Amino acid sequence: MLSTPRWGGADLVPDLVSELLSDAAPRTAVQAAGEAAEEAWDRRAPVYARPMDLVDIHSHVLPGADDGAATFAEAVEMLAIARAAATAEIVATPHMFAAGLGSDDAAAVRALFDRFVERLQQLDEAAGAAADRPRLHLGAENYVSAELLEAMAAGRVQTLGPSRSLLVELWPLTTASAARHAVDRIQAAGYVPVVAHVERYRFLHERPALLEELVGAGWVAQVNGAAVLGQDGLKTAQLADRWLRRGLVSVIASDGHGARVRSPALDEVRIHVESRYGATTARLCLRDNPLALLADRPVVLPPEVPRFRWPGRRDRV
Ligand SMILES: [Fe+2]
Repeated sequence: MLSTPRWGGADLVPDLVSELLSDAAPRTAVQAAGEAAEEAWDRRAPVYARPMDLVDIHSHVLPGADDGAATFAEAVEMLAIARAAATAEIVATPHMFAAGLGSDDAAAVRALFDRFVERLQQLDEAAGAAADRPRLHLGAENYVSAELLEAMAAGRVQTLGPSRSLLVELWPLTTASAARHAVDRIQAAGYVPVVAHVERYRFLHERPALLEELVGAGWVAQVNGAAVLGQDGLKTAQLADRWLRRGLVSVIASDGHGARVRSPALDEVRIHVESRYGATTARLCLRDNPLALLADRPVVLPPEVPRFRWPGRRDRV
């Protein structure tokens, strides 16, 4: 038998409260609903506590390659931040073919990456122990341009690791038809187009429903973690929310640019996605689909999540 609580309601309806709190009292619908809610919460709680290795396929962690990590020290700090936030694998994706922001030479970017890995090893040797860092891969964020299409034809593009998955960035003001034409050419050349931060393009702001058609045509939609958290403005947050609810987003990545600005940490994003769209969506967008892209396996679209509606409240037409 539980003691009667001291809140005011006990004085107002003492009989009802004591009846509800009595072990002998019949189990009412209210109690059953309360117990079910508690059980549901108990099932969720361990998910928050359980660490899940995250895989970040969009990061500007390669120092000196673009507008990301400015120095080796900052890159080391970015890796430490990402690891502390449960990132197990990270793909360095410097800008390429972006009109002077970064290199157009895949061999030069590879050499820079190899030198970076070598310096990390030297750092560990000097420290006498290997630091706990995410596993590093090389990729690129390829700006869709004539130069990219030319390099693609010559087989000189940098994919995500050894895969055929190509992270591409579109001109923000591009039209739907120009974007489709370019991405069609990327697919025709045998690459899987992973379209970076789909929440940024004007043609999708104007016609958000078009993303469903594009995903159906083979686009892999990547959204930035900052947009999911609402840190990139209301419009992008609304778009990210809409597409996550529709199960159209395959990947969420950090697009991390530094240790302090546009952080590489994804743990807060994971918690937000789990609480709002469910554990399956978080797992697919932040781990399974990024791994699938690195291994040339097809991505799995997350389930649709119905919008929560207060009982009795009418939908706006
Ligand atoms: Fe980026």
